[in-house]
Amino acid sequence: MQNVAVTQTPLQTERIRLEPLIEEHFELEVELDSDPEVMRYLTGCARTREQVQHAHEMRLETARPVDGLGFWLGFVEDEFVGWWMLEPAGWAEGELVPGEVELGFRMLRRHWRKGLASEGAGEVMRHAFEDLGMNRLYTYTMAVNAGSQAVSRHIGLRYVRTFHDEDEVGPEGFEQGAVEYSITADEWRAAQAAG
Ligand SMILES: CC(C)(COP(=O)(O)OP(=O)(O)OC[C@H]1O[C@@H](n2cnc3c(N)ncnc32)[C@H](O)[C@@H]1OP(=O)(O)O)[C@@H](O)C(=O)NCCC(=O)NCCS
Repeated sequence: MQNVAVTQTPLQTERIRLEPLIEEHFELEVELDSDPEVMRYLTGCARTREQVQHAHEMRLETARPVDGLGFWLGFVEDEFVGWWMLEPAGWAEGELVPGEVELGFRMLRRHWRKGLASEGAGEVMRHAFEDLGMNRLYTYTMAVNAGSQAVSRHIGLRYVRTFHDEDEVGPEGFEQGAVEYSITADEWRAAQAAG
């Protein structure tokens, strides 16, 4: 398979080098998605190599519809730690919502609780608003996924709503629904100005 033409920019935080996702990153995604604890509130179990291959192709596709958006893999001193995503809003449903973007993140378990998810998320959010001119950024996660919500709050997003998918089955805690957190570009700028 050919590499998707990358329109994304590499990014850098104090500790993390963020590289736009390319074909060669596949084995790192296999390592991440084959940990059942990492996937606990996503699929509920480890992904097979074939499932990761499918996810990998979808992730590469995420970079196509809107210039600058997509997935970034994070490296600390050349060691892979996890990924961050800026997905065009509505892309999965087939109807893009201009100016809006969904933020996602997933870290290798041995790198949890070091502040890395928040550090990378803060930078891709800055990039979305400051460099790409997005108007609104949001996260979706399961209501029981406390860590994910803590990251959203840590970087300044606010709780919007709890909602229930139409699916009849899902991972542990699925019956408690999913939550949306969100921030607008104006709110982000005001927070920056306030320090
Ligand atoms: C959720 C996840 C990304 C957090 O990554 P992390 O690097 O450990 O997060 P950070 O170290 O940046 O922590 C940010 C905040 O979240 C809190 N936190 C992290 N994990 C937590 C948990 N499991 N329960 C409660 N709070 C948690 C931290 O204490 C910190 O709190 P603070 O704002 O008071 O300082 C990581 O656990 C993960 O990859 N989980 C599996 C994948 C996943 O669920 N992704 C999100 C799906 S939408």
